[in-house]
Amino acid sequence: MGEHAAFIDVHSPLSLLSAVALRFFMKRCLAVLLLAGWAYASPAPSSLTASTLIANVPGRTTVSLDGAWRAIVDPFDNGRAGFFRDEKPHSKSDRVEYSFDASPVLNVPGDWNTQREQLMFYEGPVWYRRLFNYHNRADKRVFVYFGAVNYKATVYLNGEKLGEHEGGFTAFNFEATSVLREGENSLIVEVNNIRHADAVPALKFDWWNYGGITRDVMLVEVPATFIQDYWVQLVRGSQNEIAGWVQLNGAQPAQKIMLEIPEAGVHEAVSTDGAGRASFHFTAKLELWSPAHPKLYDVALRGGDDVLHDQIGFRTIEVQGANILLNGKPIFLRGISMHEEAPFREGRAFSVEDAQTLLGWVKDLGCNFVRFAHYPHNENEIRLADRLGLMVWSEIPVYWDIDWSNLATLANAEAQLRDEIARDHNRAALILWSMSNETPVKPERTQFLKQLAADARELDSTRLITSALNRTDQTGPDERILSDPLAESLDVVGLNEYVGWYERRPEDADRLQWKLKWNKPLIVSEFGGGAVYGRHGDADEIWTEEFQDDLYQHQLGMVERMPNLAGLTPWVLMDFRSPARMLPGVQDYHNRKGVVSNRGQRKLAFYTLQKFYKKMAEAGK
Ligand code: GCU
Repeated sequence: MGEHAAFIDVHSPLSLLSAVALRFFMKRCLAVLLLAGWAYASPAPSSLTASTLIANVPGRTTVSLDGAWRAIVDPFDNGRAGFFRDEKPHSKSDRVEYSFDASPVLNVPGDWNTQREQLMFYEGPVWYRRLFNYHNRADKRVFVYFGAVNYKATVYLNGEKLGEHEGGFTAFNFEATSVLREGENSLIVEVNNIRHADAVPALKFDWWNYGGITRDVMLVEVPATFIQDYWVQLVRGSQNEIAGWVQLNGAQPAQKIMLEIPEAGVHEAVSTDGAGRASFHFTAKLELWSPAHPKLYDVALRGGDDVLHDQIGFRTIEVQGANILLNGKPIFLRGISMHEEAPFREGRAFSVEDAQTLLGWVKDLGCNFVRFAHYPHNENEIRLADRLGLMVWSEIPVYWDIDWSNLATLANAEAQLRDEIARDHNRAALILWSMSNETPVKPERTQFLKQLAADARELDSTRLITSALNRTDQTGPDERILSDPLAESLDVVGLNEYVGWYERRPEDADRLQWKLKWNKPLIVSEFGGGAVYGRHGDADEIWTEEFQDDLYQHQLGMVERMPNLAGLTPWVLMDFRSPARMLPGVQDYHNRKGVVSNRGQRKLAFYTLQKFYKKMAEAGK
């Protein structure tokens, strides 16, 4: 009541009521006016600040800080009082009521949920500490780099706050040069995975809210002026024009930079300006990257004291009417959706081995495409997709309903989009940026997502923009039209439909006719049904492999009749943990729609999809 005291006379009930009603009415008018103004305005030019992410960390000089970290589970959020100081009692009467030294460890990278039974359902703060020795080098700057921390991270070094990061699936780094000590250093990270209504994602999602430092942590050593980021890709629609830029960070911004692609005979010299930026545009004769020929070139950038190598593929990706063109030719995206869940041991996947297992199964299905749902996956997966020739759909976790009218939520989503693109913009495999999944059709939502699509186009003019939509209108007993207004702002339309599972029976798919309001390529980004591996029965017995397989057979027949179909990513590669799936003896907190179980066992539907893709590939699709 404090702030409104002056406004309301609490003694006369009548005036209180009218005063509150008046305030409510005024607020509503203001909100509606603001909303109307915002909802119908065209997306504003991106107001995004540049990402501070250091590009291509795998190609840098690094010191790994992975391993066992001491960890304090802090359910009541007491640690803020001082845990970041890593205090120790100095005398026998000194009272310090926490001790990292005496605390058990948690492995990094890794979620805490699958490391300790009592943390499986834990959502809250956990304080991590890593001690490490460092020998300062006068000519070097040092950054602390995190591949990802779910959900919010506050980072301290030797008691000094380096920074905060929000978003569980994007990388970030903070400069530590001035705080680093010669000898022992204490790095402390407060990690908090509590869900919030104004966060991204918000309160509800169909995956486990794994908390922790879930990807690699390392010190990155760079020269005083270093190559912070660069973009080396083909111009959209051209098969021999390379255009891009290089951005330096440091006190000597104006430098000569050599860009070399020895195998393609490229030796390009450019000079950065006073802001450390240089652009380039030149032609080169290149072997183009494709699933059949995932050619990667060694690309070297030399500037000042910095030398950086990267393996980059060159390809073009465009749309033409209902077709998606890879290197100028129509291509069908034979795909599958997958979560970043570790096979066999479960928990967040992070390692090269996890990526090899999961993407190995994707290749075994006969896929040339994979949808990384519903958040940016780890760099090991995307770099392996580059090498394996798997095209990738990457997505930010704008999932189901979020706080659309909250500008802080928009800024959060924009920052996640910016950092996703900052990490992966040189990956040939990455062809589609997805803005969202299954979001309700309402003006503030559509405006929010149109803004994100505009941001994505501004950040990356070479790739395609999409979203997974699920709102369709019934235009006849067996007729559906996809008419979500957001599709206007997309290059490719994604459709999630669950005919035979959440609605109707599997065989009803045989009669369904689909229409699309736009002449754009369509990807059926989800269909599917649950099955317990090894449970067998009649095709109409739910949770059996036969039921799931039957559903797949009807679905594959239906999608082949869909207009503008340019790709498929059935839901889902592998059973995964979800707090929304509680049926005992069947789900046990797992979504069972995988065509592979979480123990790597292939269900009947795996082979049905494999056969379908084999047939397509043989038909040149
Ligand atoms: C949704 C959603 C997925 C979810 C799936 C399901 O469509 O996008 O995240 O897991 O359906 O219900 O299994």
